Amino acid sequence: MKIDILTIFPKMFQGPFTESLIVRAVKNGILQIKVTDIRSFSKDKHKKVDDKPFGGGVGMVLKPEPLYDAIKSVGVKKKNNLYKNYYSKPYVIYMSPQGKTLNNEIIKKFSKLKHLVFVCGHYEGIDERIINYVDEEISIGDYVLTGGEIPAMVVVDSLARLLPGVVKEESSVKNDSFYNGILDYAHYTRPAVFKGNKVPEVLLSGDHKKIDLWRKSEAYERTRKRRPDLLGLLCTSKEKNRLKDII
Ligand SMILES: C[S@@+](CC[C@H](N)C(=O)[O-])C[C@H]1O[C@@H](n2cnc3c(N)ncnc32)[C@H](O)[C@@H]1O
Repeated sequence: MKIDILTIFPKMFQGPFTESLIVRAVKNGILQIKVTDIRSFSKDKHKKVDDKPFGGGVGMVLKPEPLYDAIKSVGVKKKNNLYKNYYSKPYVIYMSPQGKTLNNEIIKKFSKLKHLVFVCGHYEGIDERIINYVDEEISIGDYVLTGGEIPAMVVVDSLARLLPGVVKEESSVKNDSFYNGILDYAHYTRPAVFKGNKVPEVLLSGDHKKIDLWRKSEAYERTRKRRPDLLGLLCTSKEKNRLKDII
């Protein structure tokens, strides 16, 4: 998968993209990440990329021209038609608090695309006319950050885990919270007793059928307690019957 990040603060990506899973995915050729400085497209002699808002008021707005040129430079021709082979074309995502709130379904969808382009805003945001070249606006939650860099990192990190070959044990990804619509079960490791607290007996039994059932039941039970809203979404009759059987 090819990922382009358009930002005015490229150095922010140095830490998160040069450590851990992401760097391994890049080394193994699973991910190809390019961070482009929007400033390099500024025609201004001081490399200015922002300006005062029309209509007055505080704050600055990212100007449309350098952003437009940056978007074009990574191969974007025009906005995608969502229903027409957008899988193979660059898909432009503007990280914005006003976008669709990120969830695992969106991440799954992004993980199937070939080329993602992330536009990171700053200050008051980007000139609204750039939205004409954006396929989707994505928010990482109902709060405001100073820029779109950390939100873009969140999306890239999360989707990288879903790419085949990135996480060694692919089945572990499939048991993770949200993958099947519920939370993950509780995990324990050695020692079997810690400060007087024992791990559940069943996990020491060696009976894999029983352990599997316990984990399923534990996952449903903690979802019911912590995120009952998720169970409401599992509305197929098959899932409801599974729930009845297990709890
Ligand atoms: C200070 S914010 C601008 C907020 C904007 N004036 C508003 O109220 O909607 C600057 C940039 O940070 C990014 N950003 C801030 N909060 C975000 C969030 N929750 N999710 C995704 N991106 C966010 C966006 O790229 C945005 O253009």
